Amino acid sequence: MELLGNKNHKIIKGDALKALKEVVEDESIDLIFVDPPYNIGKDFNGYKDKWDKDEDYLEWCYKWLNLCLKKLKSNGSMYVMTATQFMPYYDVFLRDKINILSIIVWYYDSSGVQAKKYFGSMYEPILYCVKEKNNYTFNSNEILIEAKTGSERKLIDYRKNPPQIYNSKKVPGNVWEFPRVRYRMDEYENHPTQKPIALLERIIKASSNVGDIVLDPFSGSFTTAFVAKRLKRNSVSIELQEDYIKIGLRRLELSDEYKGEKLERELKSYELDKVSTGQFKLFEKKHGTYIHRKNQRNSK
Ligand SMILES: C[S@@+](CC[C@H](N)C(=O)[O-])C[C@H]1O[C@@H](n2cnc3c(N)ncnc32)[C@H](O)[C@@H]1O
Repeated sequence: MELLGNKNHKIIKGDALKALKEVVEDESIDLIFVDPPYNIGKDFNGYKDKWDKDEDYLEWCYKWLNLCLKKLKSNGSMYVMTATQFMPYYDVFLRDKINILSIIVWYYDSSGVQAKKYFGSMYEPILYCVKEKNNYTFNSNEILIEAKTGSERKLIDYRKNPPQIYNSKKVPGNVWEFPRVRYRMDEYENHPTQKPIALLERIIKASSNVGDIVLDPFSGSFTTAFVAKRLKRNSVSIELQEDYIKIGLRRLELSDEYKGEKLERELKSYELDKVSTGQFKLFEKKHGTYIHRKNQRNSK
C-alpha cells in the first residue's frame, strides 16, 4: 500500500479491503460513493473484472460493504452501484444494516452494445442509504431541477386554497438522466467505466457539506474526488491500478509527476490529427493540458 495526496485529498494505492481495514478510521466518513467492479468482464488495465462464481463475487462485495458501514459516521450516507443483476443481493444484504431510502436509476440513452435479440441495458442502479433515518444530510435546495409539468405551461393548481401556480423547481425523483462519458467530452479519461461529473455532483451536493469527508473505495478515474475537491469537500480515494492513480494525481492537481514520470493528459486521436496538420500546436502546461489552437492565448 502507498499513501499519496495531501491531508485534504488522500489517495491510497492498494487493495480496497486492506485499505479500508488498515487506513480509514471507523466512523470517520460523511459520505461514501462505491462503484466497484461489476463482475461483468471489464478490463481494468489487465485486471479482469470476472469472478469464477457469482457467489464468490458477492462474498467479496459483502466484505467491503460491511467495512464501509463501519467507516460511515452515524449521520452519514452511502451510495452503492453494481450491475443490475447483482443489485437485488446488495439490497437484501444491506436492508437490515442500514436504511435504504431510494433505489436510483441512472438512465442514459445509449447502451454499450446495441442488443438486437433482447432489451439492451440502458441504466445502472444506485442504492441510496443512510445510517440514521432521522439524522442525515440532504441539501434539497442544492440539487433542484426544473419542474416541467404544470409550471412550464403556467398551469394553476386549483387543489390548493387559494389556488397557486405550480412550482418551477423540484427535488429530482429516482430516475436520473445523465449522458455517459464519451471520448469527445472534455471530462473523458482513459478508463473503461468512468462516471460522469454531473452524477457525482448531484450526490455530493445532496449528501455532504463543505469540509465533509467523501470516501470512494474504487476510485477509477477519480471522478468522486475531483468533484469533491471542486465542491470544497475533502476526499479519501482507494485504487489498485497505478495508471488510474496517475489519473487521480493529475486530475486533482496533487502532483505533476509520479515516480519520475510527468503526469500529462493523453492527447485524443483527433487532437493528434490537428497537431500533425498544424491546426494545433503543443505546449507545456502544468497538470497536463498541453495543446491549443495556433495563435490562441487561452487553452482549455
Ligand atoms: C467501476 S470502476 C470505478 C470507476 C470510477 N467510479 C470512475 O468514475 O472512474 C472500479 C475500479 O476499481 C478498481 N479496483 C478493482 N479491484 C480493486 C480492489 N480490490 N481494490 C481497489 N480498487 C480496485 C479498478 O481498477 C477500477 O478502476
